[in-house]
Amino acid sequence: MCGIVGYIGHREAYPIVLKGLKRLEYRGYDSAGIALYDGEEIKLSKTKGKVADLETRLENEIATKGTVGIGHTRWATHGVPNDVNSHPHYSNSGNLVIIHNGIIENYEPLRQELTNRGYTFTSETDTEVLVNLIEDVKTKEKVKLGKAVQIALNQTVGAYAIAVFDRNKPDEIVVARLGSPLAIGVGENEYFVASDASPFIEYTNNAIYLEDGEMAIIRRKKGVKVRKIKDDKQVDPYVQELKMNLEQIEKGGYDHFMLKEIYEQPNAISDTYRGRMRVSDGIIKMAGIDDHIEKFTNARRILIIACGTSWHAGLVGEYIFEDLARIPVEVEYASEFRYRNPVIYQDDVVIAISQSGETADTMAAIKLAKEKGAFVFGICNVVGSSISRETHAGAYTHAGPEIGVASTKAFTTQITVLTLIALQLAKKKGVISTPDFHAHLQELERIPEKVAKALESNEHIKEVADIYKEASNCLYLGRGFNFPVALEGALKLKEISYIHAEGYPAAEMKHGPIALIDEQMPVIVIATKKGHYDKVVSNIQEIKSRKGKIIGIVTEGDVTVKGLADHVIEIPETMESMTPLLTTIPLQLLSYHIAVMLNKNVDQPRNLAKSVTVE
Ligand code: M6R
Repeated sequence: MCGIVGYIGHREAYPIVLKGLKRLEYRGYDSAGIALYDGEEIKLSKTKGKVADLETRLENEIATKGTVGIGHTRWATHGVPNDVNSHPHYSNSGNLVIIHNGIIENYEPLRQELTNRGYTFTSETDTEVLVNLIEDVKTKEKVKLGKAVQIALNQTVGAYAIAVFDRNKPDEIVVARLGSPLAIGVGENEYFVASDASPFIEYTNNAIYLEDGEMAIIRRKKGVKVRKIKDDKQVDPYVQELKMNLEQIEKGGYDHFMLKEIYEQPNAISDTYRGRMRVSDGIIKMAGIDDHIEKFTNARRILIIACGTSWHAGLVGEYIFEDLARIPVEVEYASEFRYRNPVIYQDDVVIAISQSGETADTMAAIKLAKEKGAFVFGICNVVGSSISRETHAGAYTHAGPEIGVASTKAFTTQITVLTLIALQLAKKKGVISTPDFHAHLQELERIPEKVAKALESNEHIKEVADIYKEASNCLYLGRGFNFPVALEGALKLKEISYIHAEGYPAAEMKHGPIALIDEQMPVIVIATKKGHYDKVVSNIQEIKSRKGKIIGIVTEGDVTVKGLADHVIEIPETMESMTPLLTTIPLQLLSYHIAVMLNKNVDQPRNLAKSVTVE
């Protein structure tokens, strides 16, 4: 998974491509490169490291001229991150240059075939094989670049978003996609190519999202021609107007995207429910659900498939659906589901949750569920993403771009969508009373204000973070609706601070993890005054008697846990099913501050990438 950017038009390409790469670094950041055509030849520069390293390298070179250019920020799949394996890659003649996001699975036999015909390779990448395959086709068949790309891609197996240009025809860039995202920004006599719209949003609001299996020939003067890769059929491109603005993308005064995104949650949650519920009339309107209501109300069960934080949101969804709508739910890791020959009934409803809408395992699980005849509903954040298109129906979370690799607002907005769906189904099935339904809508409407209140504990959380920043391990405990929040809290700490953490259902502690507890072990216990409060208080006693350090996440005004815990962090009172929307907030902030204090790269933690488009 990588970020790709391209430009062809009347401006200097270098600053556009470079800035675009910086915005796409969330997709991978182990190496970066740029190729520009300066009017005579292609100038290419690439390096292991971040886009900033590439920039430093380029400052010492003069190779930054030209109105055609492509750039790449990499997350290694084939070959270690080093200068040679970085993109762009030349073809053997030096005429073609390519960038690629994805994996060509049959690159080995293709490489062998090309080697037999005299091609040589400098890198270990599948991408260098692809660019030479294109060159080979172009020479053998005596066809133009677009045709050569089409023929070559039809010989490949795998996933790709590519951009390629030919130094002998520098007035065009050819792009194609299958399984990896690709957007084309359409300006006045200028065109942009990128993995998402963030690199070009300040230049144009008009974008074409290529569908899987499509390619486009982009010409400086003649515009964009879209075709199907398989059969060469021409397609009328749909130019859509984007509502996203640059401010949404940039950090907006915060030190990190993660912190900005944590603070965006009050607005993100209200953006999620806006237009979908009318509290005064007691109405929920969600086209994706209402248009298929019988599928849901007649469902034998709901299967939720997702990965990572989205899987945790799915687990919260299980508690919400079963409690409110009385529909049995199973929650599955997409990566397990896709390979374990699962039993899927035609009257199952599958809900796939994904912030990016590009996660490869989730995508594969969706395809499997569809093959078995299930109705698949998607909950995605990224509009136009692959999963949002692959599913039969869906609902966007409308959280706005999430750039920090650690998912925050995606989680709370996914839970908001799941709550709306569960309430709507409960109403349609007649398993919720009208006053109860109204009470839930009223409470959901108040959640953004309560999240804002929870955020006010930031300074106190920072003090707690300072005390525990040196811990080697942490335990997170919760029960019921807050068990998944304990898992999510542990994941947040692990991924950005590299401190080992585990989430557990509080009552399971005595079946094993209690052995870990001593005076060195911070235990974060979610102990809101709902659900099994008394039981959680007993669990806290058990930790205390083993000298564990207790950080309690409690409801405002709590005195019992305050009397037992070393520290408490308060959240406002709410209905039990909505507590995860609030208890998550202090856990996000705690991880954030610990990671900052440890000097970690909060927005781009090691070994991770924002969207995992490979399995
Ligand atoms: O885009 P998705 O929601 O499908 O991504 C799923 C996971 O890769 C993602 O939630 C990951 O676990 C995050 N780094 C967690 O913060």
